[in-house]
Amino acid sequence: MLVWDEDISSTPTIAPRSPAHHPEVVRAAALSSPQLQPQLQSFRAAEPQVSPLPFKPAAPPASARSQASRRVNAADKRVINGRTDVNQLVPFKYKWAWEKYLAACSNHWMPQEINMSRDIATWKDPSGLSEDERRLIKRNLGFFVTADSLAANNITLGTYRHITAPECRQFLLRQAFEEAIHTHAYQYIVESLGLDEGEIFNAYHEIASIRDKDEFLIPFIDAIMDPSFKTGTPEADRTLLKSIIVFACLMEGLFFYVGFTQILALGRQNKMTGAAEQYQYILRDESMHCNFGIDLINQIKLENPHLWTPQFRAEIKALFVTAVELECRYAEDTMPRGVLGLNASMFKGYLRFIANRRATQIGLDALFPNEENPFPWMSEMIDLKKERNFFETRVIEYQSGGALTWD
Ligand SMILES: [Fe+2]
Ligand SMILES: [Fe+2]
Repeated sequence: MLVWDEDISSTPTIAPRSPAHHPEVVRAAALSSPQLQPQLQSFRAAEPQVSPLPFKPAAPPASARSQASRRVNAADKRVINGRTDVNQLVPFKYKWAWEKYLAACSNHWMPQEINMSRDIATWKDPSGLSEDERRLIKRNLGFFVTADSLAANNITLGTYRHITAPECRQFLLRQAFEEAIHTHAYQYIVESLGLDEGEIFNAYHEIASIRDKDEFLIPFIDAIMDPSFKTGTPEADRTLLKSIIVFACLMEGLFFYVGFTQILALGRQNKMTGAAEQYQYILRDESMHCNFGIDLINQIKLENPHLWTPQFRAEIKALFVTAVELECRYAEDTMPRGVLGLNASMFKGYLRFIANRRATQIGLDALFPNEENPFPWMSEMIDLKKERNFFETRVIEYQSGGALTWD
């Protein structure tokens, strides 16, 4: 049941108690009262004497001790396998990560800020949407309602502990919270429209085109979440790098794009504008996550050039090709007949175009030469055409509280 602001404001309020009656104030006054001192003395005397537990910190190994006691020198920091103190954010080395953290914070938003009443009326109106549009919305939410939980778990239980640059950890913490906001937003849409929660939240088990995408991703998440997994060998470092590439370039940077385009296309046709506004805020966040991930990948490559072997690059390219195929199948499944002026073959071109962009951003050749973007309005929305720092430009334009506009 959706709770509107009016309902919240009608909740009976509890009259504030005078501060003098607050239990803490009463207790503090009693403790300081001279009349009570003798009683307190006897009370204290009656308290059993507790001796402190013996505490002897274990001595760290000599190498760790010399690192831990030394002041952090920014030049010594490393994104992976670093040995500097991860509790000291400064001195900064990775300013780009800190700046992205600040930009992400300035874009803060919450799902309940967006009015869903028009969407609710459209969904309830039998002629508000076609059957194909309803199927598209349900399949779309079916992927997203669990995708961002996978993303949050991957960050907090996987990636985070293997990253040794505190500036990057700071961004990952913000990112994890944004993934929680995104899951909240999708849940809020499901609840607002009164959809069958069991159907939508189980789609990743029950709908093949969604399950296949998640089954592609999960081994890369599981590998780095394994408690016994540690970086420090070329093989393990490649496992982590591969996981970050799959997550940033293929999940956040590719698997989200059919879904985003579909709901934004509905919004452009003045349908489901509340959901579309939520998705546009999410797209802005995800663009930043993808861009941060790409910077992280390139920094790891810079600091560990030995990881980027021809064999490893071939493996990554093969993963890109598989991801494009899986996302094309998802596009076909969500739009079997074409809807909203969109069809699966347009998405094939779009996904190849995006895959080329992601590949070149991490230093691989384009996989599908000469692909053009069939959705220039999406480029407009996320500034995909800009060659450098394309996400940041948009982020500066969209500060928190700023209105979103529809072209
Ligand atoms: Fe997300
Ligand atoms: Fe994300």
